[in-house]
Amino acid sequence: MRLEIQDVIEEIMPATAACAESFGASPGTGLFPEEEALVARATHKRRQEFATGRECAREALAAIGIGKMPIMRGFRGAPQWPAGIVGSITHCAGYCASAVARAGDLAAIGLDAEPAAPLPGGVLEMVTTPAERARLRDLAAAQPEIPWDCLLFCAKEAVYKAWFPLTGRWLGFADADIAISAADGTFTARLLVDPPAGTARLLAGGFSGRWLSRANLILAAIAVPA
Ligand SMILES: CC(C)(COP(=O)(O)OP(=O)(O)OC[C@H]1O[C@@H](n2cnc3c(N)ncnc32)[C@H](O)[C@@H]1OP(=O)(O)O)[C@@H](O)C(=O)NCCC(=O)NCCS
Repeated sequence: MRLEIQDVIEEIMPATAACAESFGASPGTGLFPEEEALVARATHKRRQEFATGRECAREALAAIGIGKMPIMRGFRGAPQWPAGIVGSITHCAGYCASAVARAGDLAAIGLDAEPAAPLPGGVLEMVTTPAERARLRDLAAAQPEIPWDCLLFCAKEAVYKAWFPLTGRWLGFADADIAISAADGTFTARLLVDPPAGTARLLAGGFSGRWLSRANLILAAIAVPA
């Protein structure tokens, strides 16, 4: 899928983050040997998305003065950023992006992209609470052209990617209540579980993020201030 857009990630990330995005698949030649080993047995598609993600991440890191280095896969798949750096990677058909920041500026980043399409049958019930579904119905009534269910799913994945590096813990789809604002392109995530000790200052208020729907692409981004 070729998306006829560009420069979307910077629209929804703060200036304290450096971003890079790609609208095509990488040839996959830019991996370090250690990274190659992580996808040695992967499918062609998985290898391409992994490589494109690493290339975006390295481009974003370069923008904040970090030289090229392997970005390994850490606990439960989270990327292992260089010391003092936080970041996130996302890829979906036709799009890939990464955003990074110095840990003194941001405590965590969560980024997710999805092709703009309604969720497959049965998925909505698995990933939303009744309160979220009620709000989705209101949003759909006001602006039916946006796949709000897909956006809510995307926001939840962004929440997980911001939550996990801070806590090292799983967060289920029923553990956060997302409220999307159609008016200003923002969303909030109220956490329905207690944040682990030591993370209360950062997480007690939940997360707030920004979203974008453009040319068949849905994007959600969370930048947690340090
Ligand atoms: C991990 C997950 C969020 C990835 O989302 P996705 O839409 O499937 O895929 P994306 O391409 O957008 O993101 C994949 C990237 O996320 C990053 N990632 C994977 N696990 C991660 C984790 N535990 N923490 C942070 N980032 C992670 C990786 O960089 C990965 O790409 P890579 O393997 O090439 O490095 C998803 O597969 C998942 O497990 N979701 C369930 C948890 C959840 O969303 N809970 C909702 C809380 S409200």
